[in-house]
Amino acid sequence: MALNKKPYKGTRDFFPADKRVQDFIFNKMKTSAEAFSFEAYEGPMVEEVALYKAKSGEELINDQIYSFEDRGGRFVAIRPEMTPTVARMVAQVHREIPKPIKWYSIPNLMRYEKPQRGRLREHWQLNCDIFGEVGRSGEIEILQLITHLFTSFGANSEHFEILINDREIVNIVFNDLMKIDEETSYKLYKIVDKAKKVKPEGLQKMISELSLEASAEDIFKKYLAIKDFDELFAFLEEVGFSEKGAGFKELADISAKIGLKDYLVYDPTIVRGLDYYTGIVFEVFDKNPENRRALCGGGAYANLLQIFNENPVPGVGFGLGDVTLTDFLATHKLLPDLSKNDVDIYLTFQSDKAVAKNFELASSIRALGFKSLNSLEPVKFKKVFSNAEKLGARFVSILGDKELEEGFFQVKNLSTKESVDIKFSELDKLRDILKA
Ligand code: HAM
Repeated sequence: MALNKKPYKGTRDFFPADKRVQDFIFNKMKTSAEAFSFEAYEGPMVEEVALYKAKSGEELINDQIYSFEDRGGRFVAIRPEMTPTVARMVAQVHREIPKPIKWYSIPNLMRYEKPQRGRLREHWQLNCDIFGEVGRSGEIEILQLITHLFTSFGANSEHFEILINDREIVNIVFNDLMKIDEETSYKLYKIVDKAKKVKPEGLQKMISELSLEASAEDIFKKYLAIKDFDELFAFLEEVGFSEKGAGFKELADISAKIGLKDYLVYDPTIVRGLDYYTGIVFEVFDKNPENRRALCGGGAYANLLQIFNENPVPGVGFGLGDVTLTDFLATHKLLPDLSKNDVDIYLTFQSDKAVAKNFELASSIRALGFKSLNSLEPVKFKKVFSNAEKLGARFVSILGDKELEEGFFQVKNLSTKESVDIKFSELDKLRDILKA
């Protein structure tokens, strides 16, 4: 039986045109992270399952992880996220290196999910994390970096928004106001996480199953109805907890002063599915209703290093996936045309007599700093221009037997159609021509 030519379900082959899009996106990610002086790191593809069991949350462990026993009997998993890996790496070195530690990486991750628009089994994810006692400033810098990256693609507040919440506020509501126990609180977190993904009846059913006291349910519903920062701070004031919400208010105020106001929206349903978050939690959404999937998610986590018996070095960061980002950029027409290769000059010759000279020209052109594409075999004149077009060349060089004998070749600019004869002894002239 013939083998399947398609990639494994939920993974992608990146043909050159797809790879160019991916590289374009990765370069922007790198440029933005490095503009904020984040340093690149990388970790292994496989980790012990225990690393994820510690804090990643039940959905990831029960439903999404690719795990297996290796030949040595160790229970391992293909990385479904990068945060436990970076925490493990920071745990090894945090005593020796200056803080804040600002690291970024673009790993490929695997999660066993039902493939659909915006969700695949393998995706790449920009991860930027700051470790150290950086408090609100670290959180604001992370939000500023996200905005910087999106705007570097040409996106603005009409295209995306950052929905944000603070788990400390959710804890006030659950613990101080509703007075529910830890187990119910954990379940309620999961319900809030699903609140916008289910119909109102479904949400009510999940809430009813918790058998909350009527007063607690009222508070919960009042909380869920909060629409923006002003309503949140008014609510906290009303219930006598404005002091505990002061830190989050500071974040909102500073963000407004540095131009993030148009992007940040308070949303009580953002709590995030991963268990390690302890402070702010946020998700970036496309404002286009057809693409309503999180483009990016993150938050602050105070205790992740404790799983390695290390002092709690707090961290804050985010993961930004390539699948939803590519959909976002395509939807808003923010991707350049990368369908063709990017070649400076396509070098053609008409007969085998010119093979050696064409190789010589190709290496001289590379030495001048340009990308040459040697045709490697004689090309019929009538095919030269259509080939050049398909290959994505800006210029084409034609070397016929006559030119070879007389010591020159022709260079044609494919957009202006101008043509120049260049002597083999005057190759330097090409520099100015190709720069055009
Ligand atoms: P996450 O919300 O699980 O967070 O993933 C972050 C982003 O990765 C999502 O918003 C989405 O764009 C993308 N993503 C996740 N799963 C898939 C999938 N199956 N297919 C396509 N894209 C996907 C984390 O992973 C955290 N570790 C992020 C973080 C870093 N928090 C702090 N630092």
